Amino acid sequence: MKIAVLKETRSGETRVAASPETVKKFVGLGASVAVQAGAGAGARFSDADYADAGAEISASAADTAQSADLVIKVQRPSTEELRVFGHGARLIAILSPFNEPESVEAYARLGVDAFAMDLMPRITRAQSMDVLSSQSNLAGYKAVIDASAYFGKALPMMMTAAGTIAPAKTFVMGAGVAGLQAIATARRLGAVVSATDVRFAAKEQVESLGASFVTVDEEAMKDAETEGGYAKEMSEDFQTRQADFVAEHIMNQDIVITTALIPGRPAPKLVSEEMVRSMKAGSVIVDLAAEQGGNVALTRSGDAIETDGVTILGFANVPGRLAADASSLLARNIFNFVSAFWDKDQNEFVVDWDDDIFKGVALTRDGAVIHPAFAEAAATPPTATAPVEEEAVDAASDDPDAQPDENA
Ligand code: NAI
Repeated sequence: MKIAVLKETRSGETRVAASPETVKKFVGLGASVAVQAGAGAGARFSDADYADAGAEISASAADTAQSADLVIKVQRPSTEELRVFGHGARLIAILSPFNEPESVEAYARLGVDAFAMDLMPRITRAQSMDVLSSQSNLAGYKAVIDASAYFGKALPMMMTAAGTIAPAKTFVMGAGVAGLQAIATARRLGAVVSATDVRFAAKEQVESLGASFVTVDEEAMKDAETEGGYAKEMSEDFQTRQADFVAEHIMNQDIVITTALIPGRPAPKLVSEEMVRSMKAGSVIVDLAAEQGGNVALTRSGDAIETDGVTILGFANVPGRLAADASSLLARNIFNFVSAFWDKDQNEFVVDWDDDIFKGVALTRDGAVIHPAFAEAAATPPTATAPVEEEAVDAASDDPDAQPDENA
């Protein structure tokens, strides 16, 4: 069985889907691995590192993917990349299908069985395969590092002969994986940290990290979590009261880190323009939800801006700003997924379509769209004939530069 590791083509994507460590493990399973030359450059993995791990280095994407049974990537493939896949190839990546549902039909029409790592169910068995967690964790850390780089002051309290420096007040909005890591990092740097979330479970987690939990309505929070552990969209009344409360709290903060997301919905707007302008000059806001529409009214996705002395960082692909670690963890997530379904006797990745993990991540099978969220919308039976292929490819993400790094 041949596994192909392609070089990412999307602008600003520094990560790679396999590390020398996971290549070695794939080879250990009995797979042959082809890595496109330069695929690991952004993460500081050299071609020689991959070759030492047992990979064959191929010059082009086409050479790498030729006769591959499994193609692994970080981001959803562009049209050009999809063209190099063979019919019947399997694809594993952070496919973000909700951002571009047409891409799912394109996989089906091309006969590619596509598995979206970002749809991994949050069950215990799949924890080591959870790319959203591994990448969000790094993003939460990096948000604090970025904030401190733009903040013209120190984070910890310092008592010096010349006087005392007050600790930075840091407010984290959304205490999921990224938010909790941001809290832990800011605490380690000595900031005074407060945090909020709509899920009740977050309160204890925030407090266990030594931060104070602030909220407008604890009762309403008890019903704010889905069975999968995600937040629900809150009532209008809650949102209004939350806004009043945030307006009051935020004007005294030095650093604000927003991470709030609701699956399948645009990011909730939590910080208005007025709130930004109420903050002291020199304050810094990091909007980790920038690519999902942003939690902050003025955020410009992919950019750092300053308004009335307040800096707003809306960097794209924040995990990619720690490319080596982000790649290593992502590569392990993918390896853990593939190896969990590796059949030693057949020496290949065997899909168990009835397994809950595959029910969560599988978008297409043998030319059909099978994921319940997309199957109904898929217009035509996918076992369509060959002439459809060109059309299908064009329906997929066309210009990698047009949508940089949306899968962060
Ligand atoms: P996420 O990235 O979808 O959202 C980030 C945070 O924003 C969440 O905590 C959410 O409650 C919060 N949020 C949404 N709307 C908000 C609003 N209006 N105001 C304030 N906060 C708001 O969530 P993430 O980071 O993926 O984690 C969600 C939960 O899933 C956490 O409890 C986490 O511990 C859990 N989890 C479970 C895993 C497992 O069991 N395998 C793996 C990873 C996470």
